[in-house]
Amino acid sequence: MKQRLKHRIADIVIFGGTGDLALRKLFPALYEMERTGRFDDETRIFGASRSEHSDEEFRSKLEEAGQKFIPKGEFDAEIWKKFASRIAYVQVSAGDEAGFKVLYEKLSDQPDRDRVYYFSTSPSLFADMAFNLKKVGLVTPNSRVVLEKPLGHDLESCREINGQIGEVFEENQIFRIDHYLGKETVQNLMILRFANAMFEPLWNSAHIDHVQITVGEEVGVEGRWSYYDDAGAMRDMVQNHMLQLLCLVAMEPPYVLDQDAVRDEKVKVLKALQPINDSNIDSSTVRGQYRKGAVGGKEVPGYLEEEGANVDSTTETFVAIRAELNNWRWAGVPFYLRTGKRLPKRHSEIVIQFRDVPHQIFPLAKSMTNYQANKLVLRLQPDDGIHLVLNNKNPGPGLVRLRPTALNLSFAEAFGGRSPDAYERLLLDAIDGNNTLFVRRDEQDIAWQWVDAIQEAWKNNHITPKGYTSGTWGPSAAIALIERDGRTWNEEAGF
Ligand code: BG6
Repeated sequence: MKQRLKHRIADIVIFGGTGDLALRKLFPALYEMERTGRFDDETRIFGASRSEHSDEEFRSKLEEAGQKFIPKGEFDAEIWKKFASRIAYVQVSAGDEAGFKVLYEKLSDQPDRDRVYYFSTSPSLFADMAFNLKKVGLVTPNSRVVLEKPLGHDLESCREINGQIGEVFEENQIFRIDHYLGKETVQNLMILRFANAMFEPLWNSAHIDHVQITVGEEVGVEGRWSYYDDAGAMRDMVQNHMLQLLCLVAMEPPYVLDQDAVRDEKVKVLKALQPINDSNIDSSTVRGQYRKGAVGGKEVPGYLEEEGANVDSTTETFVAIRAELNNWRWAGVPFYLRTGKRLPKRHSEIVIQFRDVPHQIFPLAKSMTNYQANKLVLRLQPDDGIHLVLNNKNPGPGLVRLRPTALNLSFAEAFGGRSPDAYERLLLDAIDGNNTLFVRRDEQDIAWQWVDAIQEAWKNNHITPKGYTSGTWGPSAAIALIERDGRTWNEEAGF
């Protein structure tokens, strides 16, 4: 039976409407909702930003970007026409009430309608925008606000922004986005764990030796040097995306799939993180910064030679961490996290490395160079899929030789079609008022506390980033970090 689509009626306002994220991701995601018939005819979309544009000019800007960023074959002139007819532009400066009054004029004919305000601007503008929305009467019980990252720079600034937003919106109206939670494979992690009986009994320190989480990027800072330099890999990737992935791997099964039950379990994981501070900073972290090199056969400049760079910068573009969780399920199981720019390829995965069999009866097993205990590899991007590595008999007579072989499940092959972009799912959830896949205030606080302690220890101990050649997997210290424990990163082991 064909599922009936829900047709949403909402007013959606994208602040920062002419910005990079809006053009690359948000409007293409909204277009996809149009294409798949998820909007009621009455749904309206507004772009808001400081610059002056007529509705027509704004729509043409969006169309130009759409042709570039909407996946190939999905841009359809007729559908675009319908989509564009819902879109209008409002000139608004965050601190200027006048623009908000104009917005009020446009929205006030539908006071009871669901409203989604998407703040895709610098977080320094969030408070002004929220206060002005409230002042002109645009915050109703049916209003929601979506906050783009980074939400602050550390715990203190994050608390300040959250405090200000909290004066205007209730917690259940606030949607703090972490786009990794909208990725299909990331959502699938919960399904793999909690809708299949076979993994959960093994999902603990008795059976799992360690976990690796890698988010590798080929790209450099992509013209955002000064934003990136303020953040670094730790704030840009670890505080949010990497810790969210860790939570989904490590959390207890929630008793029900709802926003508080799921987020309560994630908070418990974050609270159980062993602090990294002056006493263990050297053995637990590695900072790196890319130097010039070649990625995908192309010469690329070093971080300090990028456009706009300050040559004295000591910001990290790579970080590797050995994390531990102090709880019954995970005591003694290291979680190795690693993320960086200008690595050999765009490659993100979670590796669950199981312990070896307790007693080996195949005498040749250990001496074989490629012997390995079972592991489960969850590939997030590209080529999303699941690989379960099992030992098999190498065919042939004579001595029994083992050969590790993977059972491969490629999502593209199994399910066909394209995998929706994370923003499509998350925008839809925000319109529907479901914030399970968004980050709660306490989650964010605890993540910042852990990250701030690391930053502090780096500062106290004068730990500056080690250079690594672009196109390699980071500084050699990152390899030493895991090899000291007698383990290797997954790309060394294959699969
Ligand atoms: C963003 C970071 O949150 O995530 C970027 O600010 C990074 O620096 C990006 O490139 C990675 O996202 P994805 O979806 O391409 O893995």
